Amino acid sequence: MTADYKVHGDVAVITMNNPPVNGLGHATRVGLTDGLAKANADAAIKAIVITGAGKAFSGGADIKEFGSPKALAEPNLLSVILAIENSAKPVVAALHSVAMGGGLELALGCHYRIAAPGTNIALPEVKLGLIPGAGGTQRLPRVLGVETALNMILSGDPVKSELLAQQPGQKLFDKMASSPESLAEEALAYARSVAAARPLPLVRNLPCKHPLGDAYFQFARNMVKGMAKNFPAPARCVDAVEAATTKKFDDGMVLEREIFTALMFTPESRALRHLFMAERAASKIPDVPEDTPKRQIKSVAVIGAGTMGGGIAMNFLNAGIPVKMLEMKQEALDKGIATIRKNYESQLKKGKLKQDKYDQRMALLSTTLDYADLKDADLVIEAVFEEMGVKQKVFEKLDEVMKPGAILASNTSTLDVDKIASFTKRPQDVVGMHFFSPANVMKLLEVVRGAKTGKDVLATVMALGKQIKKTAVVSGVCDGFIGNRMIEQYSRQAGFLLDEGATPQQVDRAIEKFGFAMGPFRMGDLAGNDIGWAIRKRRAQERPNMLYSRTADKLCELGRFGQKTGAGWYDYQAGKRDAIPSPLVNKMIEDHRKELGITPRKISDDEIVQRLVFSLVNEGARILEDGIASKAGDIDMVYLTGYGFPMHRGGPMMYADQVGLFNVVQAMKRFQQNPRDDAAFWEPAPLLAKLAAEGKTFS
Ligand code: NAI
Repeated sequence: MTADYKVHGDVAVITMNNPPVNGLGHATRVGLTDGLAKANADAAIKAIVITGAGKAFSGGADIKEFGSPKALAEPNLLSVILAIENSAKPVVAALHSVAMGGGLELALGCHYRIAAPGTNIALPEVKLGLIPGAGGTQRLPRVLGVETALNMILSGDPVKSELLAQQPGQKLFDKMASSPESLAEEALAYARSVAAARPLPLVRNLPCKHPLGDAYFQFARNMVKGMAKNFPAPARCVDAVEAATTKKFDDGMVLEREIFTALMFTPESRALRHLFMAERAASKIPDVPEDTPKRQIKSVAVIGAGTMGGGIAMNFLNAGIPVKMLEMKQEALDKGIATIRKNYESQLKKGKLKQDKYDQRMALLSTTLDYADLKDADLVIEAVFEEMGVKQKVFEKLDEVMKPGAILASNTSTLDVDKIASFTKRPQDVVGMHFFSPANVMKLLEVVRGAKTGKDVLATVMALGKQIKKTAVVSGVCDGFIGNRMIEQYSRQAGFLLDEGATPQQVDRAIEKFGFAMGPFRMGDLAGNDIGWAIRKRRAQERPNMLYSRTADKLCELGRFGQKTGAGWYDYQAGKRDAIPSPLVNKMIEDHRKELGITPRKISDDEIVQRLVFSLVNEGARILEDGIASKAGDIDMVYLTGYGFPMHRGGPMMYADQVGLFNVVQAMKRFQQNPRDDAAFWEPAPLLAKLAAEGKTFS
């Protein structure tokens, strides 16, 4: 049983007790209904209080039960709420800390509600591609008014109880407790004060209207259409809340349930639920138990104050951790610090940062040219040039000066972390921390686990990732780790598409229509085409048989590195970022086709999307096979948080699962027939072929 039952004189207190947030799983629901029945059967009990143990009243549905028969098993949440409404004795919800989703819906079914200040109140279902499914859309408008309720249901964001309590005419709270500590006592006293009240008030009996009626909902629909183009749930939230104003309560409930059930089966909701679970799962490493002792990180050093070093430093400053930056020359330090300052100042101007916070952050930042000044740092992150020789010098020096137990991290994007570790006498302390540019903005942090990286180091860095608000995903050591290893195959396909007859703008348009934030060519122009050029030159030595389209090299030979040179795959007007199709580039691509003797063919948008996405999927399958990623969800997290993969598709591996792995393999076999393509490229990875043959999925 995950709800406790205690008697305090003439009041029974049912305390949900299902850590961490009292999710309303089956056992908790049984505990609630049993408690209600017991209290109602006991003549000595005059009133009932429902509350939550520990860190929450209730965070809502137990997401682990989603889609499983357990979620619907009686008593389901609707039945629990009905049992509360039907209780002959008054039921008071005592809310504190978190009352969200099903937890808030449960409270709305109670006769009375008392809340502690600071309670986070929310119906966040829309974030999982759903609408509230246990009366939230019908009851919240009745206690807060249509507009406040719809805003909360559409945003899914929490609002503090004391703010809602100030709203004129609100009926969400009957009383505010004076403090979280006194809630339990005040709830008992309140329950006694209403013990004799009859009839018992029910939210379902309150009126619900908007003075503008249809006009308001039309306005809401227009707003939602603009905001949520790929997700069906927000528009359905409007439908459900409108029903609260036009239908009888029970009919509104029927519509809410219909919408909820229909949304549950949409690919968009599946994708968002997958993302929710995958994000939590990413922090769990199979052979590193959660109670692994962690090292304390109270100060950080960053080597290199260039593009990455500055952004990396800001993450720690934002979290209140002091940072010391080291460079080779004072000018480089000055330049790096000026960039950080400029970044914060722009946040100040936009009102996103307050002056005192700005001052605090800048005060945490110091600089040095001398390695000896770094010796006390708990963590040092190297972000110098991407050359093994340079990294070697830096790590040998760090090994000399850093205190024992300090973590030595590299932000390398492609180099071998094991080799870097071998430059030190403490490979167990070395780890990759691969941030993405701009490092102060991008959510993704690939944590690269070397062969000798200590488990405590890994656990520390994962926890630190959370502290600086990153999505940390563990990758094994390989060229490009998870993200860049996959993107290389995607970029190769993009190049082949040009050779066969597509234009950069056609490829970008097709994949952007699919939902990517940016197509490969616009992305190349933004990041700098010279980066890929340098990698291909290195590859030409390491793997001379790897086929590439030569178009990207030709582009770079023309000095067209992208936005930074005012020209790349597209033309750019001075100071602007709009990508203008370039006749010169299109001619260059045509000439290249002629050199190769290729007659261009018309390539459909579908083929473009499949070839780009399935190239990610196939390499993702190899990454799983090689044990570079421990689960498919980790790969999806990398792509959703670091590469602009469309959120509503759930990541490349989830998308492949939804298309069906059999269909993915069939498409790849078709592409193998394509005479221009490298047949080996489209050889399905053994894991993919196996799962497809067995009718299984990556997840
Ligand atoms: P950058 O060229 O902007 O900055 C490198 C900085 O390191 C320069 O300021 C340079 O003066 C300094 N530096 C070089 N050798 C040094 C030494 N021995 N001691 C102290 N400072 C030294 O380069 P960026 O782009 O910041 O890249 C740094 C690292 O981050 C590379 O390993 C790169 O692969 C990686 N990375 C880069 C990303 C990007 O988008 N730029 C993304 C993710 C990783």
